[in-house]
Amino acid sequence: MKPFVTIVLVMCIYLSGSDSVGLYGKSVIFPAKTANSFVRLHASDFSRLTAFTVCLRAASEETYPYSLFSYATSTFPNELLIWQESKTQLWLEFDDQDTKFEIPEMNTLLRHICVTWESQGGEITVWVNGRRSIRKVGGTGRVVRGSGQFILGQEQDSVGGDFDINQSFVGEITDVHMWDHVLQANDIKKVSQGCLRHGGNIIDWGVTRYTFDGIVGIEGNKDSTL
Ligand SMILES: *[C@@H]1O[C@H](CO)[C@@H](O)[C@H](O)[C@H]1NC(C)=O
Repeated sequence: MKPFVTIVLVMCIYLSGSDSVGLYGKSVIFPAKTANSFVRLHASDFSRLTAFTVCLRAASEETYPYSLFSYATSTFPNELLIWQESKTQLWLEFDDQDTKFEIPEMNTLLRHICVTWESQGGEITVWVNGRRSIRKVGGTGRVVRGSGQFILGQEQDSVGGDFDINQSFVGEITDVHMWDHVLQANDIKKVSQGCLRHGGNIIDWGVTRYTFDGIVGIEGNKDSTL
């Protein structure tokens, strides 16, 4: 059994991406509440999305509401927001409409979270460590507009700004990926185990260019997150 396990781990590492301008093998650590610490992900351009999958690995010990993933456009600051309302409530916000999920309590242990949505039926699903939530319906028929900004660590009330210290993320985040389609269950499972064949085609943690400001730790995490 041991040699097999070793082979799988090696494959996963090599399939996860390559060293580049992105954050491959790295975690972003926000050590304190601030109104100015953030990481901006310079995602691939798109004009509109009628489906998406957003995945990330995160841990936080905080109890107040905060943003896990904030995408703002000039039309809507909360064009797409993944929001931790409490330790046990994850919200997906679209155009000021929230879809709320009761999840296992957020805590100090890194967990893998994915949210999938498709416009036609409005099906929204949350995945925690590769396990699927009940499915909900929201945002039927709508699109996610392009030309916005992706920010980790803060919730945007305008594109790239108007942050609120009391909504800032304190904790660790890594492996952020976004696709323009809904990933199938077995692919979500592979992503949750760090065995990506390909990173996201909109955001790929390994290759997407990033910029940051404020108090942000960028630390290697190879082999430590699974
Ligand atoms: C943040 O929360 C603290 C404590 O509740 C409060 O004193 C402060 O005014 C809040 N700051 C902002 C900008 O809302």
